[in-house]
Amino acid sequence: MKIGIVGYGVIGHVHAEVIKELGQKVTAVCDIDGEKLKTVDFAKTYSDFDEMIKNEDLDVVHICTPHYLHKEMIVKALGKGINVLSEKPMCIKKEDIDEIIEAEKNSSAIFGVSFQNRYNPAVQKAKEFLSGKKILGSYATMFWKRDKEYYSSGAWRGKIATEGGGVLINQFIHTIDLLCYLTGTPKKLIANVMNNTLKGVIEVEDTAFIKCFDGSDFCVFATNGSTQDFPVNIVIKTDGGTVTIIQNDLYINGEKVEVSGNAGFYGKSVYGSGHFALIGDFYGCIKEGRKFPIGAKEAATAVKIVLKAYESRGEIVDIG
Ligand SMILES: NC(=O)c1ccc[n+]([C@@H]2O[C@H](COP(=O)([O-])OP(=O)(O)OC[C@H]3O[C@@H](n4cnc5c(N)ncnc54)[C@H](O)[C@@H]3O)[C@@H](O)[C@H]2O)c1
Repeated sequence: MKIGIVGYGVIGHVHAEVIKELGQKVTAVCDIDGEKLKTVDFAKTYSDFDEMIKNEDLDVVHICTPHYLHKEMIVKALGKGINVLSEKPMCIKKEDIDEIIEAEKNSSAIFGVSFQNRYNPAVQKAKEFLSGKKILGSYATMFWKRDKEYYSSGAWRGKIATEGGGVLINQFIHTIDLLCYLTGTPKKLIANVMNNTLKGVIEVEDTAFIKCFDGSDFCVFATNGSTQDFPVNIVIKTDGGTVTIIQNDLYINGEKVEVSGNAGFYGKSVYGSGHFALIGDFYGCIKEGRKFPIGAKEAATAVKIVLKAYESRGEIVDIG
C-alpha cells in the first residue's frame, strides 16, 4: 500500500509512528518546512501537496496540516480516489461541510476523521453501558493550559483565518464529539465564548460555555486559560446509573471500572490512546471495503456545534 502524510508536525509524527507500528510503510511525506523534511529518512519528501498526489499514485493520504488546509486537501485527494484520513476538524467553515460530504459521496475512496477518543477503551465500555438506557442529561468540563509559548509554536494557531477558532474548534471538539457519540445529537444550543486570559495573545476564544438541548441535553465548560492541565471530565446521568469518564478512566455510579486494551500512548497522553486503534480500523476498512465509522457526516456534527456556538452570542440557535 502506498501511503502519504501531509503535515509533518506534532501529529504528523504520531501518524508516522502508528503507521510503522501497524506494519505499514510511509511512501512520501509532504511539508512546507524544509527543516522538518530533513528529519525524514524513511520516505520520499515533497514540499507541495499537489506534486505528491500527482507523482506518487497513493492509496492513502493522512492529512495532518493546520485546520484551514484540510478541506481543500480532503476534496482533492478524494477526487483522485485516494483514501483520506484527516485530522480534526475536517473543516472550519459551514459551507465546507457539504462540500466534503459531497466529495465523500462521489469518491470510490474511504474518508475518515481522527476523533480517536471514540476508540478509547473507557469510551467503548461507556457506550456499551449506555445502550438501552434513558439518558437524563450530561455535562463535560475541560481546564487546560495553552499559553503564549504554545500559541507561538505554529503561525496558524490562535487565528480565525487559519485555526478557525480557539479552545472549541481545536482541543474541546474531541469532547463535543464524544458527547454526541455517547448521548445523541442536539438540535439547538445557546453559547457564550470569550477571550479571558489570552487577550493580546490570540484572536480566538480561550473559554466557552455551551448548553445543548432538544435531542440530546448537555452543558459544557471549556478553557485553555487554566493554570495547568487537568483531566477532561464527562458525566452522563441515566435512568440506570451515572457514567463518569475522567480522561481515560471510567466510573459507573462512582465505582471504577477496569478497562483493558489501552493501546499505548502516542504523542501527548491527553490525545488518549485511540490513535493506534483508529488508524488500525481505518486500514481495516480499506482492506475489507467497510465504511469507516467516522466519515464526513459523523465528523460534521461536532464542527456544526462549534460553529453555531461561535454564532450564538448568548442567543438560542438551531444547529441545523
Ligand atoms: N487528534 C488529536 O488528538 C490531535 C492532536 C494534535 C493535533 N491535531 C490536529 O492535527 C493538525 C496539525 O496539528 P499539529 O499540532 O501537528 O500542528 P503543527 O503546526 O505541529 O504541524 C502542522 C504541519 O503542517 C505543515 N504545513 C503547513 N502548511 C502546509 C502545506 N501547505 N503543505 C504541507 N505541510 C504544511 C507545517 O509546516 C507543520 O509541520 C491540526 O488539525 C490539529 O488540530 C490532532
